Amino acid sequence: MGMTKQVRKTLQLASKQQSHSFYAYDLDGLDQHLADLASAPAKLWYAVKANPLSAIIQALDARGFGFDVASVGELKQVLAQGVDPARILNTGPVKTPDHLAEFVELGVRIFVLESHQQADDLARIARARQIRPQVLLRVQLPWTKDPEEKINVLGGSSPTPFGLTPEQWMPDAFTLPNEFELLGVHCFQWGNILCAETLLQTWQAAMPKLASLLDAWQISAPVVDLGGGLGIPYAEQQQELDWQRVCQGLAQLKSQYQLGECWMELGRYAVGPYGYYASKIADIKDNQGVRFAVIEGGSQHLLRPALTEQAFPVEALQSSDSPLTSYQIHGALCTGLDCLGCLPLPDNLQQGEWLIFSQAGAYGFTESMPYFLCHTLPAELTFSKSGIEVLRPSSPASHYLA
Ligand SMILES: Cc1ncc(COP(=O)(O)O)c(C=O)c1O
Repeated sequence: MGMTKQVRKTLQLASKQQSHSFYAYDLDGLDQHLADLASAPAKLWYAVKANPLSAIIQALDARGFGFDVASVGELKQVLAQGVDPARILNTGPVKTPDHLAEFVELGVRIFVLESHQQADDLARIARARQIRPQVLLRVQLPWTKDPEEKINVLGGSSPTPFGLTPEQWMPDAFTLPNEFELLGVHCFQWGNILCAETLLQTWQAAMPKLASLLDAWQISAPVVDLGGGLGIPYAEQQQELDWQRVCQGLAQLKSQYQLGECWMELGRYAVGPYGYYASKIADIKDNQGVRFAVIEGGSQHLLRPALTEQAFPVEALQSSDSPLTSYQIHGALCTGLDCLGCLPLPDNLQQGEWLIFSQAGAYGFTESMPYFLCHTLPAELTFSKSGIEVLRPSSPASHYLA
């Protein structure tokens, strides 16, 4: 979960070239992991929202992933890497008529419909352009409790704007426009599930309702898109997800329900472990019995701990034999919410030393709120056998303030 010796050496080198916080991504590690995922009995899409960095998209492209994009910005970033629009699908609760028209114009033909309005708008565009989009119906199921009883950024058991109930998609409630080819259904409500059995149970619990909907539409060899939700460990005591068990569960689902294909849109599980966020200590102090490490960066670069109350694993970049003590890690924002966790670090940490947060390859830089308090934006760089490459240097507030 933390840094290997080799990664530590590389980040030490990178830190000497950077004066501000930065993200660094391990492209060789990522490529090896993506090669291992090819064994899945499912068609794999990459959920670009997890990390839209060009080099990450290129790595997924090279390993044959399709791309799940949710905005025009993500779409253009994927296309700019040379990806064929036939390998792109569009999910997301907001698809305005302009958005849909631009997607169609740029060659996208696979859409996950999240409302009747989206269906009407896409049908109008398809008619005018004489195209035949392939669609999946996004289904939201009622659940009585969260499978892992934690804060769930996807909404989990609460009603959300993602999709509609199965009843609302039934042929008596929804008229499928003639322009569409209906491929199947999409259902995804839970994020970051680490236990394979829990994940399979949520899929198994969803399937009877999805199967009734598929039967009602009489789709032969239907597609079921299960979205993402495969977790990665963030805390020391957590175990890695059992990937082989996930693959067995998918294979069983396919044969049990005679599915043509299972699809997954992986974000966190595809890229999360291959990113690091590095930030320098600005201050160490004790206050009311609590030892604080205040870092130059913080939630403006890495917001997720403030959203989920779950810390990223952290280590000091310089290895040290000093005993560990608990630090409350705070960032540079003037709010108590800017807390990156209470974690053990060497007790002799000093101002100017770097902390490295691992598992930061997904939901890092672009999930954050970089403009608050006008701090410097973090650099983003990659490393591989060919060396370290800075894709975007850190930039001061004068670059984005009007
Ligand atoms: C529609 C959709 N698909 C896939 C994902 C990726 O999820 P994960 O990072 O859990 O794999 C998300 C994340 O929010 C999503 O909204």
